[in-house]
Amino acid sequence: MAQLEQIAAPGSEWWRSAVIYQIYPRSFADASGDGIGDLPGITSRLDSLKELGVDAIWLSPFMTSPQRDAGYDVADYRDVDPLFGTLDDFDTMLNAAHARGIRVVVDLVPNHSSAQHAWFQEALKAAPGSPERARYIFRDGKGKNGELPPNNWESVFGGGMWERVTEADGTPGQWYLHIFDPTQPDFDWNNEEVREEFRSILRFWLDRGVDGFRVDVAHGMIKADGLPDYTPPADADSMGGGEANVPYWGQDGVHDIYRDWHRVLAEYDGDRALCGEAWMPTLKQTALWVRPDEMHQTFNFPYLMTEWDAKALGDVIRESLDEFGAVGAPSTWVLSNHDVVRHASRLALTDDNPQGEGIGPNTPHKPDTAIGLARARAATTVMLALPGSAYLYQGEELGLPEAMEIPDAFRQDPTWFRTNGERYGRDGCRVPLPWEADAPAFGFNETGASWLPQPADWAAYSREVEEKDETSTLSLYKQLLAVRREHGFGSGSLVWEDAGTHAVAFRRGAVHVLANLGTKPLELPAGATVIVSSQPFDGTALPVDTAVWYTKA
Ligand code: NOJ
Repeated sequence: MAQLEQIAAPGSEWWRSAVIYQIYPRSFADASGDGIGDLPGITSRLDSLKELGVDAIWLSPFMTSPQRDAGYDVADYRDVDPLFGTLDDFDTMLNAAHARGIRVVVDLVPNHSSAQHAWFQEALKAAPGSPERARYIFRDGKGKNGELPPNNWESVFGGGMWERVTEADGTPGQWYLHIFDPTQPDFDWNNEEVREEFRSILRFWLDRGVDGFRVDVAHGMIKADGLPDYTPPADADSMGGGEANVPYWGQDGVHDIYRDWHRVLAEYDGDRALCGEAWMPTLKQTALWVRPDEMHQTFNFPYLMTEWDAKALGDVIRESLDEFGAVGAPSTWVLSNHDVVRHASRLALTDDNPQGEGIGPNTPHKPDTAIGLARARAATTVMLALPGSAYLYQGEELGLPEAMEIPDAFRQDPTWFRTNGERYGRDGCRVPLPWEADAPAFGFNETGASWLPQPADWAAYSREVEEKDETSTLSLYKQLLAVRREHGFGSGSLVWEDAGTHAVAFRRGAVHVLANLGTKPLELPAGATVIVSSQPFDGTALPVDTAVWYTKA
């Protein structure tokens, strides 16, 4: 722990201002060469994250799993899937990260398990009404012979939310609930046995030394009493954005679970943190997850979903600071993750693209790569100046666009299969990272294998190439992170400035932040000295889709 304390002593609530880098283990670095990234691969590349300047890493799931939803279907919460390595590899990675002053957050998936989890296998063998079935949400079907699902809920991945089982005697039987894929049965969180099991799982990882948890589907674990029918509006986001009063999202009962977990984390020394993945429609609702006795952070999805528009961006920043501030929590900021179109493409989309839909070969208006990248760099330049904690998703520091030309045969997202290819889903943001320009699989491994094909033009985005180019996206991220740290931008408050209707402008101490979201260049004030800018420019007229940090004489 020695190196960690140099950055933030215990009790310092490091998570309030941290920059947390999301690692998607299957696509980060592959030491074994089987085409899927792994924990030894992560360990081997930690120096690059140290150089980038992040405070913590969050690892998407690497626990034992049949990988029907890329690891978000956990069969054993206390072990590492052989695809990714072993528990010893995890400990080695954790210690190596801590030795570099980087904290480690792991993903916890408590809403559902894999259908291969021992408890679900026991439930399938047990009788209706048994304690084994009571750990999940089993119900009798409707209709004369129970042949209809218990209600009309639609799965996030498409199709119905219920699957019928065959009972031990071979007859068609009860149905179980799955918000996601049928291979991901939902736990019944009203069952104390489930609660006790997860307290124990939290302790298992806390005892190993993790600094926190990102909690999957933190708004879905409690379902409304009686499981009433519900039909979402046609334009609703699949994870809940835009909808209110949904019987499986944001039910009050979820908050008791996090109060309980808050107490478990508080049993440990140092600052361990919970970050919720709660896709709630408004910031006011989102902030409920971070009341003082609940989670420490929650993702700011309204910010992520904001289009490239000065008023919308200014408004969401104001509202975020107000709503999180009202409950005494830091705001978080995030622009990309493994579930959404990468922001280097998303910010240039001209059509609506609800979360989970993805983009691909038949998308009508493909985003312009240059505009998308310019906006992404400007958006990140704004984000990293904001007070609070920022999340980065692996590859955004290289300016990676969404991979749109993935052949159907390679696609793996259950969304693609459950909607018969109507929605591309999320594979396009999950393609393995390019590290070197001329190596097999661009240095992702030594064999050239890659679970999703990498676009041929990704040599130009490789870390090796970008490291040598001071105008690259990687160089920009490094500068932004270094200046953010130097000026302590993660804490404190901001002062709004007026730069017209097509700009976002504020001040952090002596540093002014200005973003041009309009269609004409914006004059910088006389005497401005540029510290960092998202694109090179002459220092006087800020080009469109560009953001700058500057001081004034
Ligand atoms: C949210 C995760 O981020 C996503 O990748 C996953 O498919 C669902 N939860 C189900 O676990």
